Amino acid sequence: MQTTQVVPLGDRPAWKALGAHFQQIRDKHLREFFEEDPTRGERLVVETGGILLDYSKNRINDETLKLLVQLAAESGLREKIEAMFRGDKINITENRAVLHVALRAPKSESIVLDGEDVVLAVHTVLEKMSGFAERVRSGEWKGYTGKKIRNVVNIGIGGSDLGPVMAYEALKHYSQRDLNFRFVSNVDGSDFAEAVQDLNADETLFLVASKTFTTQETMTNAHSAREWALAGLGGDEKAIAKHFVAISTNAKEVGKFGIDIENMFGFWDWVGGRYSMDSAIGLSTMVAIGPENFRAMLAGFHEMDVHFRTTPFEKNLPVLLGLLTVWYTDFFDAQTVAILPYEQYLKRFPAYLQQLTMESNGKRVTLDGTHVTTETGPIYWGEPGTNGQHSFYQLIHQGTRLIPCDFIGFYKTLNPLGRHHDMLMANVFAQAEALAFGKTAEQVKAEGTAGWLVPHRVFEGNRPSNTILADCISPEVLGKLVAMYEHAVFTQGAIWNIDSFDQWGVELGKVLATRILGELESAAESGGSHDSSTNSLIRKYRKNK
Ligand code: F6P
Repeated sequence: MQTTQVVPLGDRPAWKALGAHFQQIRDKHLREFFEEDPTRGERLVVETGGILLDYSKNRINDETLKLLVQLAAESGLREKIEAMFRGDKINITENRAVLHVALRAPKSESIVLDGEDVVLAVHTVLEKMSGFAERVRSGEWKGYTGKKIRNVVNIGIGGSDLGPVMAYEALKHYSQRDLNFRFVSNVDGSDFAEAVQDLNADETLFLVASKTFTTQETMTNAHSAREWALAGLGGDEKAIAKHFVAISTNAKEVGKFGIDIENMFGFWDWVGGRYSMDSAIGLSTMVAIGPENFRAMLAGFHEMDVHFRTTPFEKNLPVLLGLLTVWYTDFFDAQTVAILPYEQYLKRFPAYLQQLTMESNGKRVTLDGTHVTTETGPIYWGEPGTNGQHSFYQLIHQGTRLIPCDFIGFYKTLNPLGRHHDMLMANVFAQAEALAFGKTAEQVKAEGTAGWLVPHRVFEGNRPSNTILADCISPEVLGKLVAMYEHAVFTQGAIWNIDSFDQWGVELGKVLATRILGELESAAESGGSHDSSTNSLIRKYRKNK
């Protein structure tokens, strides 16, 4: 077990200094920060590879930044970054390396893990994926009856679904439009039924995506897909080879399912599910946008990786993003972070980030197993703008909670249409401005508002946000944005000294569900082995199902 030894968070000098510093600036208004330094809006900005982060509308000053950067150093962030890139087994509870950065390393690089050059292995799989994607896209890959494939259905859940569906939606503009893409994840049969209800089996290809190839939901959906396909193809088992491919680390289980290993695209245990959209798990993305665009996405990821690894913390975009989240979570007691993309193509981005951030940093013990002494991973949530403005923004503006927001906008749209894009972007800038500066009682009164109404119309302001801008949504930009959040999550985990790469918290529910399933299906009355609530709910279900 190799971990960077760091002193407990509460004992780090920068942490203590931040505590004292927080008392000094906790009530200071963003209006004052901006009045004191008119250049703040130009100064507190970093840009890398065309991704701009304006973090000036945060409740920080130069001293805060200095102390946060010092905290990162005292937390061993630099050493931890190197350990990850080197392939050390930093996922200590699973004794695994964490090498998603190898998935986008250029062929010229080499990372040796347990005697194997993993970059070489990555590129071998990429070649195989490219060949397959080209054959499907060109129509060369034929179904069992000789028809071209028109429908591609990805079956997976968690990281084997959220990344693929998010990337497909984000990059739809670049996709081959004569192919239909569907994504089935939920064990609720309605998900599968609706996904295939207008499809013909002889034109449909299933990509079964599962790192373990044992996940209950995915296997159940895959078996239903198998039955559906066989029913539509005359029942000949040989048809499976033309209509099913697997993406997995588990060749044995893939074989057992009946998928030819030739039609399996592999990856490795050092790729976490939520860090896998750029591995073979991204096969649906590659089929949709083509190998060249997929490689452009990988290049975007890699550019952000290099920035994260080599840039001093005070200019390091993911590090700053991560540190700001620690600042609000642990000092201001903020419980959530809102992700607000002003780009319809990013409509699944908040959902994708929920798994990335919360499965990674939803931890309550440090690497040495002791209970953490601060709050860890905040709740991430969000919706695209401007839709969210007409739904939950009221609470962000005038509610009692502090909700740091990430606004994500683009200089250009892929669909220029009259004034739409200027209107969209006017809203990004207006929301961040309103949140930061608000509207005082004096301003409200000066508008002639009746006295009793004034408190209702006051905006306190002082609500922090980041504004992230890029040129337009593209494979390369998407790669950069995802890598930016991956590394921001890493930064937070390094400060909290937790294992951001395991997910033991999802296990208990899975075990109990398997046990309860037996009770729901058994002919015999359940013995009532649970608590009185669960027993009674099971009885009700059995009676009424
Ligand atoms: O929910 C737990 C989890 O293990 C996620 O981490 C993972 O992304 C998902 O299940 C799916 O796992 P698999 O790819 O092995 O089917």
